[in-house]
Amino acid sequence: MSEFNFQGAVAVVTGGAGGIGRALAARLTAEGSRVAIVDLDRASAEEAAAALPGAIGLAADVGDPVAVRAMVAAVESELGPIDIYCSNAGVATGGALGDDEAWDLSWRVHGLAHIYAAREVLPGMQARGSGALVITASAAGLLMMMQSAPYTVTKHASVSIAEWLSVNYGGQGVQVHCLCPQGVRTPMVTSDPRGESEVASSGRIIEPSEVADAVVAAVRANQFLVLPHPEVHGYEQFKVEDRDRWLAGMRRLLARIAG
Ligand SMILES: NC(=O)c1ccc[n+]([C@@H]2O[C@H](COP(=O)([O-])OP(=O)(O)OC[C@H]3O[C@@H](n4cnc5c(N)ncnc54)[C@H](O)[C@@H]3O)[C@@H](O)[C@H]2O)c1
Repeated sequence: MSEFNFQGAVAVVTGGAGGIGRALAARLTAEGSRVAIVDLDRASAEEAAAALPGAIGLAADVGDPVAVRAMVAAVESELGPIDIYCSNAGVATGGALGDDEAWDLSWRVHGLAHIYAAREVLPGMQARGSGALVITASAAGLLMMMQSAPYTVTKHASVSIAEWLSVNYGGQGVQVHCLCPQGVRTPMVTSDPRGESEVASSGRIIEPSEVADAVVAAVRANQFLVLPHPEVHGYEQFKVEDRDRWLAGMRRLLARIAG
């Protein structure tokens, strides 16, 4: 399979007005792609796009299938068929067990949003024999965000959806990737002191540009799992080797953070 060509590619980045999405949009533009920045608020999507040559900004709620369909149609009519779709929008909501509202929002944004995107873009990519879908999950989707059940569980769903899509749609020119960073210095982390304390206590915090670099490298190499913190691979190995030992260690870490 030939290497993905970013030059002249049409790219969508959801959650593109914020931290990781904004850095991804900048990096894809630097690689020669024409980027559609999608976010909840049109003004912030357009403001982010104005900083990037050739980029456009659109509003869409990725948890709404009608809005996703309309957004994809708008991008394709303005820029052409989508070559790379970064399904990156995310929400940090629902502490502890979470209420129904937090669960509903988390399922929509971390689960259904990826399905809505896949329905709109993967059949066309398959027909053209090229394209990439990059799903932003989290290291919490492989391991755990101890202070939030909704975030942990729905990010596991993001990983599972990416794996399922890779098996069903990957190959013959179509690539599916799953991005699983640990701590990244973005508003999601810096505006939530509790989240920051857990993220800070469980590893190093990297810059959004480092995440964007890792995504571009993984897409070039057609590598499914994107780990901007390579140490996460070791943590996952440690987990699957002995779950009881891992769970006991996580309980100790939680007690240390809470204390
Ligand atoms: N920052 C971290 O440490 C970290 C770690 C692992 C994974 N992630 C994931 O990376 C992704 C990007 O997060 P970030 O850290 O840049 O956060 P962020 O809050 O800076 O950006 C998220 C963006 O998504 C947008 N968004 C939220 N809900 C949306 C919706 N329904 N429709 C459209 N846009 C919506 C927000 O408006 C915001 O601009 C998320 O999926 C997040 O869960 C972040």
